[in-house]
Amino acid sequence: MEYFPIFLDLKEQPVLVVGAGEVAARKLALLERAGARLTVVAPRALPDVQEASRAGRLRLLEREFEPADLSGQRLVIVATAQRSLNRWIARLCESAHIAVNVVDDRAASRFIVPALIDRDPVLVAISTAGTSPVLARRLREQLERQLPARLGSLARWLGQLRVRVQRSWPRASDRRRIFEALLDGAATRRWLAGDEPGARRAARECLAEGRSAAPAGEVTLVGAGPGDPELLTLKGLRALQDADVIFHDRLVTAQLLDLARRDARRVLVGKSPGRGGSSQEDINALMIDEARRGQRVVRLKGGDPFVFGRGGEELEALAAAGIPFSVVPGITAATGCAAYAGVPLTHRALAHAVTFVTAHDDGDQALDWKALARPSQTAVFYMGLARLERIVTQLRAHGADPARPAAIVSEGTTERQQVLTAPLADIPSLAARAAIGSPSLLIVGEVVALQQALAWFSVGPQEELARRA
Ligand SMILES: C[S@@+](CC[C@H](N)C(=O)[O-])C[C@H]1O[C@@H](n2cnc3c(N)ncnc32)[C@H](O)[C@@H]1O
Repeated sequence: MEYFPIFLDLKEQPVLVVGAGEVAARKLALLERAGARLTVVAPRALPDVQEASRAGRLRLLEREFEPADLSGQRLVIVATAQRSLNRWIARLCESAHIAVNVVDDRAASRFIVPALIDRDPVLVAISTAGTSPVLARRLREQLERQLPARLGSLARWLGQLRVRVQRSWPRASDRRRIFEALLDGAATRRWLAGDEPGARRAARECLAEGRSAAPAGEVTLVGAGPGDPELLTLKGLRALQDADVIFHDRLVTAQLLDLARRDARRVLVGKSPGRGGSSQEDINALMIDEARRGQRVVRLKGGDPFVFGRGGEELEALAAAGIPFSVVPGITAATGCAAYAGVPLTHRALAHAVTFVTAHDDGDQALDWKALARPSQTAVFYMGLARLERIVTQLRAHGADPARPAAIVSEGTTERQQVLTAPLADIPSLAARAAIGSPSLLIVGEVVALQQALAWFSVGPQEELARRA
């Protein structure tokens, strides 16, 4: 091991930084967060460093370095642009037994500064002993994605619980068991999900039992996005990997389900247009049943669970049954398909509003067709394919220009994505000719005219269509 890893308590400790450029400023920001008493020596300083000095957060000596500056310092960071000056200061530090880091000069440094993942108070430091800073950065990026954003907040909460647990359980082995149960159970999952009252309840139950309580079940409603598996959120991925059982819709792809744990049960509960499937009551009952058996349930739904996804109804059933739940939003079909088709849903010159509409058989009366037909706004119709003719007739009957740009996006964001654009009046016959399939949505509005210039996603049949055109 080339370096001994330590975390240093620098609160109120004198630290000298030589140099006040951008690199020095980055080190200063970290040192300030660690509570160090900072002195900066540099003939010229960045405005930020001058500002910090005026605010009393550090002492700035705007002159050349002098050996006497080292007197009484615990730590020195050297970050001037002159290599010979840096090395001279490093030698002086060595003679005075002061730990020194020279930025980008490992040979002259007594210590090096690791790449850092900061979930304060949780810190993960990564070092390749200076062999490859790029590799260290890559590792940091990978770990960043895996560590929950609320990890620091979780650590602080566990710190508070520790005091209580220490009072009630004198034996270290008991305490360890309790904290393992807290960390592996619903308390931690709920805290990380952002449900602090739910986490506290789960922790109280766990502490009341004084041992690893039977795992409390819960349900997470996860938005899978419109198709491209990479559009799943990090939080959705974490929930998927934690799940014991996954109830998923028909539109959720196999690639996405592959991201779940191997031993997780995957249950298709989706409804197909005209082909039925599990009823909503069946789905609710299944989720409640599994959660009551202590299972971590993920209900994986296409797009966003709260956009035409009956997510609200499922949560109402869970709430009535007293099952803890949380929701991870997803990218809804309208925003996903629009992005991949090259249709900005709003645009300063073309559309000031966007409306998401569901075009169900029973929805005609409820919709404000006049408002939907108005220019300078965009309307996105979900589940519209079978009702295309009727939607266009209604829009035209309520004043929409037959030449208004319209697009159908089918299987958007996937390799099978197809985009058809035409004037509103022609879109039903074009869709019929192209034998476009489900799932599809219809976008109506002036912004569709930008599609020609802004289309960027072009794979599979879309490419084929373009070649034939
Ligand atoms: C029951 S709704 C569910 C919507 C979903 N909750 C969401 O936020 O996207 C299903 C409808 O969404 C639209 N849809 C979903 N995925 C799509 C995709 N990849 N391409 C085009 N339309 C899609 C279709 O209109 C489909 O009929």
